[in-house]
Amino acid sequence: MSKTPLKIAIAGLGTVGGGTVELLHDQAETLAARAGRPLTLVGAAALIKPDTAALAGVPFFTDARAMAKECDYDVLVELIGGASGIALEVVRTALERGRSVVTANKAMIAHHGIELARLAEKTGANIGFEASVGGGIPIIKSLREGLSGNHVTKVMGILNGTCNYILTTMRDQGRDFADVLAEAQKLGYAEADPTFDIDGIDTAHKLAILASLAFAMPINLDGVACEGIRHVSALDIGYADELGYRIKLLGVAAVTEAGIEARVYPAMVPLSFPLAHVSGPFNAIVTEGDFVGRTVLEGRGAGARPTASAVVADLMDLACGRVMPAFGVAVDTLEVRPAAPAGAHRSAYYIRLMVKDEPGVFADIAAALRDEKVSMEQIIQRGRAPNQTVPVVMTVHETDEASMLRAVDRLNALASIAEQPRLIRIENL
Ligand code: HSE
Repeated sequence: MSKTPLKIAIAGLGTVGGGTVELLHDQAETLAARAGRPLTLVGAAALIKPDTAALAGVPFFTDARAMAKECDYDVLVELIGGASGIALEVVRTALERGRSVVTANKAMIAHHGIELARLAEKTGANIGFEASVGGGIPIIKSLREGLSGNHVTKVMGILNGTCNYILTTMRDQGRDFADVLAEAQKLGYAEADPTFDIDGIDTAHKLAILASLAFAMPINLDGVACEGIRHVSALDIGYADELGYRIKLLGVAAVTEAGIEARVYPAMVPLSFPLAHVSGPFNAIVTEGDFVGRTVLEGRGAGARPTASAVVADLMDLACGRVMPAFGVAVDTLEVRPAAPAGAHRSAYYIRLMVKDEPGVFADIAAALRDEKVSMEQIIQRGRAPNQTVPVVMTVHETDEASMLRAVDRLNALASIAEQPRLIRIENL
């Protein structure tokens, strides 16, 4: 075994940083045997030094910027988080010094990944971000290496453990959204700002990264249409069950004739599809390639130990000299691809209306759909008593989004409709 260690400086000792330090300590012998050299911590930075044997004797910095500039490391592990600020500063410093970077920071990669990969190419450094998407699931390597013989045409998945935990727990325990969100935060799944999770922004960051790798194009975060789970109610979760679906927050990117589609939205997923059965904080990612067909990867999408596993996978690549361009090919060879126009997207839909239970309501609803050429598939209505407000639930056959939205405007204008109609896409797979 070579005596030359891979010298690692770690910036950020929160949930993921703590897990990474623990893994490097607990598995030190195994890692060294597999890499043929030790992986050695030469610096750690955080506001407060954690009291752990794993950091005994490791130089400690309260200023990550000072560590990035002064410490003699081969690789800086950035686990501070945030799209810019100190995280971006320390990463730029490391790359400018020609030192490699490993990060779990999806927001930073989604916003600045191309610029950082270009900087790494210029200075001969490498940048690894396996931990930025899917927690412990090795999806970055899968797309960049394992599927490199394919034209990947679709990548989709459950990419946010917090939302999946909330939707699963609401269904299983019949609990309220806010109560379950607070629990997810306590369990360490949620982002510092939970709106990133529940409004789909975290999923959009991850999807933008996956789409870039899958379709060999520059990251296009602005091209991701994004809708979160705030408006998903217990009522809709119950109807989904009745209709044979589970509601999941999906990120979906696909090559279509109209261009690249990239969207985040809550969807009705048929029980026959594996994603319907991915529960709690788990993530799962489905890819479709022209030679391989469909692949599905599932695993823990958040938390200290799974995410540390992905961080260390990148460190092991560096220790072993297994390096390649961050996005699979040189940044300048990534091809800008047009986005599909909004409104062109085709889907089947679930619609829930709250209506007054009185004569003629169905005729008006049917007319609104007919006028936009939207074809009904199923209807559920259980009356209570005359003149009470009751849910009417419908599914409609595949239609384009623009027609569906116009039909919703027509429904909304009816005097018998008591609330804004709820619309959830049905994912026909
Ligand atoms: N907040 C993220 C999630 C953490 O819930 O999936 C991992 O990126």
